[in-house]
Amino acid sequence: MGFEAIFPVPIIQGPMAGGANTPAMVAAVSNAGGLGSFGASMLSLDTIRAQVAETRRLTSRPFMLNFFVQGVPTPLPQEVDRGVDLLRPVWSSLGWSGLPMPAKWCEDFAAQFELLLELKPAVASFTFDILSAAQVKRLHDAGIFVIGTVTTVDEALAWQAAGADALVASGVESGGHRGTFIGAQSAATLEAIPLLAAVVDAVRMPVISAGNVMTGADIRERLALGAAAVQMGTAFLVTDESGVPAVYKERLLAAQGNPTRLTRAISGRLARGIENRFMQQMAAVEAEVPAYPVQNALTGSIRAEAAKRGDPELLSLWAGTGVARARAMPTAKLMEVLIAEINQT
Ligand SMILES: Cc1cc2nc3c(=O)[nH]c(=O)nc-3n(C[C@H](O)[C@H](O)[C@H](O)COP(=O)(O)O)c2cc1C
Repeated sequence: MGFEAIFPVPIIQGPMAGGANTPAMVAAVSNAGGLGSFGASMLSLDTIRAQVAETRRLTSRPFMLNFFVQGVPTPLPQEVDRGVDLLRPVWSSLGWSGLPMPAKWCEDFAAQFELLLELKPAVASFTFDILSAAQVKRLHDAGIFVIGTVTTVDEALAWQAAGADALVASGVESGGHRGTFIGAQSAATLEAIPLLAAVVDAVRMPVISAGNVMTGADIRERLALGAAAVQMGTAFLVTDESGVPAVYKERLLAAQGNPTRLTRAISGRLARGIENRFMQQMAAVEAEVPAYPVQNALTGSIRAEAAKRGDPELLSLWAGTGVARARAMPTAKLMEVLIAEINQT
């Protein structure tokens, strides 16, 4: 079973929280027959509304909204103090005498979920945790196709039981955060191809393969192994429409070999990015930093300042293992190139 009824080209442009996805990127992918998406988890309700409205001006085709399934945490003051202290080498290197406290730990997922039901994109996907069957039913009643993100077979079976329509099987090569929600994040080490094979075997629904898909040949390979589509993040990070800071894009395009590794130092959750001074300075204590989203919120002012100063060493340079194969061009052109490569025999 495939996705032809929703999007004819089996390419999902990965949701990327943090500003990479723009209405121009999402619309270019959907207009080319793929599925554009927004990583909307870190956006306010007003921003989500505005971006969806802008996207709907640019395309009448389906697109996807993606959210982190999360609650608002209530960390103890001493946990927060300890987190600030562990980050001291990083924030003091900016010349700061203290770390500015974030206004909130994260956006309110419950409110985002209600907005999602109101905005009714064709497709919604979720990561970091699982929805209840009742939540999935509410999405279905609103006519929304539901995709869960998994890193293990157990997670795939859990989403199947909750009523998901499809799964993203995210291999350890993937850029950004791991979606793991059952067991230790560090234990979910399957690469995209063995994960795809195991998940396709275990469930009765379409499986989307994510992780180190950079070319049409990679897409053909995943489709031949049973994927109904692929989800590509890093490949779209370097397009002209990507909203990431210029110095981040420069680092991505200068990458050779595989300069990425997993870290929990920046956000409190395992994520893959290009190693920089932030990751190196925090390496010895990364197991001790507060869990996501507290650490992510604590490092927000550092990353914002680094973006302002044009310093990639204190940004989060999220990227997948395939980063050296990323090709800079307009999104519409990348879609054209990928489709031509898929059709090469
Ligand atoms: C900068 C960045 C941010 C990401 N943010 C999200 C997100 O908000 N939600 C999500 O489900 N996946 C997120 N991902 C994962 C991508 O959607 C995609 O699955 C992944 O990048 C695929 O692996 P690749 O980078 O090797 O192509 C992110 C990836 C990157 C690189």
